[in-house]
Amino acid sequence: MKCVLIVAMDKARGIGRNNDLMWHLPNDMKFFKETTVGHAVVMGRKNFESIPEKYRPLPNRENIILTRNKAFLAKNCSVLNSVQELVELKKQESDKTLFIIGGGEIYKLALNENLIDEMLITHVNDDYGADTFFPSFELCDWSVKTLLVQERDDRHKSSYSIVKYVHK
Ligand SMILES: NC(=O)c1ccc[n+]([C@@H]2O[C@H](COP(=O)([O-])OP(=O)(O)OC[C@H]3O[C@@H](n4cnc5c(N)ncnc54)[C@H](OP(=O)(O)O)[C@@H]3O)[C@@H](O)[C@H]2O)c1
Repeated sequence: MKCVLIVAMDKARGIGRNNDLMWHLPNDMKFFKETTVGHAVVMGRKNFESIPEKYRPLPNRENIILTRNKAFLAKNCSVLNSVQELVELKKQESDKTLFIIGGGEIYKLALNENLIDEMLITHVNDDYGADTFFPSFELCDWSVKTLLVQERDDRHKSSYSIVKYVHK
C-alpha cells in the first residue's frame, strides 16, 4: 500500500498544543478531506481523542488507531497495537492509500520505520507556540514540489503553502 504522510506545521515545526490544533484554515481542512476520502487514515490514540466526538471516526475513510492499550475499542474503527502491525499493513496490496495523519508520535515512528513514500506538508507561515512538533528530516532524501499557495485573507489568519515531498 502506498503510504502518504499528511501534516500541517508552523514555522517552528509545531503541529499542536494541549492536544488540539492551533489554527483554523478552512481551505487546508478541505484539502485534507478531499485528499484522504476513500482511503485509510492511521492516527495515534491521542490524535483520535482530540477529534470532537461528532466528527469521529472521520467519515468515508477507514479509521485506524494506534495504541498500546489492547483493550482499546472505538466504534467503526480498526485498532493496531504496534508499529510492526503497521509495517504489515503497508505490505498489503491495495488500490487505497494509507494516510499517516499524526500526531507527533505517529509521524515520528512512521518516518523512523521508513514507511513513508510521500509527504504532503502544509507549511503555515507563523509560529503558534506549539507543544507538539513534527520531527526534523533530511531534505536531501526528498524531491520537493509546491502544490499551492494560500494567501492570508478573511478566513485564513495565516498564509501557507502545500508542498509535496516524494521519497527519492
Ligand atoms: N497539525 C497537524 O497536521 C496535526 C495532525 C495530527 C495531530 N496533530 C496534533 O498532534 C497532537 C497529538 O500528537 P501526540 O504526539 O501527542 O500523540 P499521537 O501521536 O496522536 O498519539 C500518541 C499515542 O499513540 C500511541 N502510540 C505511540 N507509539 C505507539 C506504538 N509504537 N505502538 C502502539 N501505539 C503507539 C500511544 O497510545 P496509548 O497511549 O493509547 O498507548 C500514544 O500515547 C495534538 O495536539 C493534535 O492536535 C496535529
